[in-house]
Amino acid sequence: MQDTKIIQFASDNYVGAHPDIAATIMASLESTEIPYGSDSYSKMAKTEFQKHFKQDCEIFFVGTGTAANVVALKSVLRSFEAVICTDIAHINTAEGGALENFIGAKIFTTPTHATDGKLTVSNLKQAFLNFRTSHFNKPKAVSITQSTELGTVYTCQEIKDICDFAHANGLIVHMDGARIANAAAFLNKTFKEMVVDTGIDILSFGATKNGAIMAEAIVVFNKHLALDMPYIQKQSMQLFSKMRFIPAQFIPYFKNNLWLNNAINANEKSYYIAKELKSTKLFKILNKVETNQIFIELPTKLKDELAKNYLFYITNENFEKNTCTIRIITSFNTSDTDVQKLVADFKQAEYNFLLSHSS
Ligand SMILES: Cc1ncc(COP(=O)(O)O)c(C=O)c1O
Repeated sequence: MQDTKIIQFASDNYVGAHPDIAATIMASLESTEIPYGSDSYSKMAKTEFQKHFKQDCEIFFVGTGTAANVVALKSVLRSFEAVICTDIAHINTAEGGALENFIGAKIFTTPTHATDGKLTVSNLKQAFLNFRTSHFNKPKAVSITQSTELGTVYTCQEIKDICDFAHANGLIVHMDGARIANAAAFLNKTFKEMVVDTGIDILSFGATKNGAIMAEAIVVFNKHLALDMPYIQKQSMQLFSKMRFIPAQFIPYFKNNLWLNNAINANEKSYYIAKELKSTKLFKILNKVETNQIFIELPTKLKDELAKNYLFYITNENFEKNTCTIRIITSFNTSDTDVQKLVADFKQAEYNFLLSHSS
């Protein structure tokens, strides 16, 4: 069990689930259902997805964000092909080589701007210079993350520009939407506007980080990619016998705008922290705080003090300057009290630090 004295701002993966989600899972235990995704919850959840995206998209439920990305991209890539993404893309940095293992294709990365985390059309044009003949991998897909690994958000126009360039060059566009709700809440756009109207071909739709429990879905808009998906899903060990527990969660998630309310809460708690820390001397916020992630540069010794009471990720250490970067993430159930306490404690620690270093 986690030390209860330590206050958690490390990730939206640490928190539990929303009570409406838990209640729907409990209710689903009562019924007898056809296994392997032919259950009534899968049918109802697919209808909800189709209402929010597009009438004729295909939905496949999986248990993790990594599985969503890998299964989605397996429907696109052969082993001699390449997917282009940023160097900080989750598929490249934090999925244990799952894509390389299951697909065997190349992940071709482009450098991203240190504080914005986005892929651009000019990155893609540059990347294309590297693919010329069969001595190189064949570019086949682009993968972008919405919201990005730095918590920033692509505008609909930026997504459309990427899709237009990719399609004109024969590429499929995948979106890693592990935190897609936070992005939609920030943009005040519907999923259809942000994903379908911009031209995304295949989407990893995450709900786990926004109040669900191991509930992710692959949403396929390009019919061609859906053809072999049932086989890929089974071979990738993501066709669960009691599948109902995953789709059941999407029913309250969509129906009562739970996805939006949860994401708004997570985002607003980060906006509050960022606004409050902006006027401090030692906490330098590095990213544009558009969703629920804040990257803060601070003296390493101050970080050591804060780490006695707070849990956060350290994403960078500068051993020459004795500074580091920490990542704070707020969640669907982060409270006003939680963030007020964090701000007060951070400011107090800064004050103590300045005092002890003033002589
Ligand atoms: C952007 C992004 N994509 C995918 C994932 C993968 O999710 P999982 O850990 O459930 O495999 C994560 C998890 O943190 C993520 O942040």
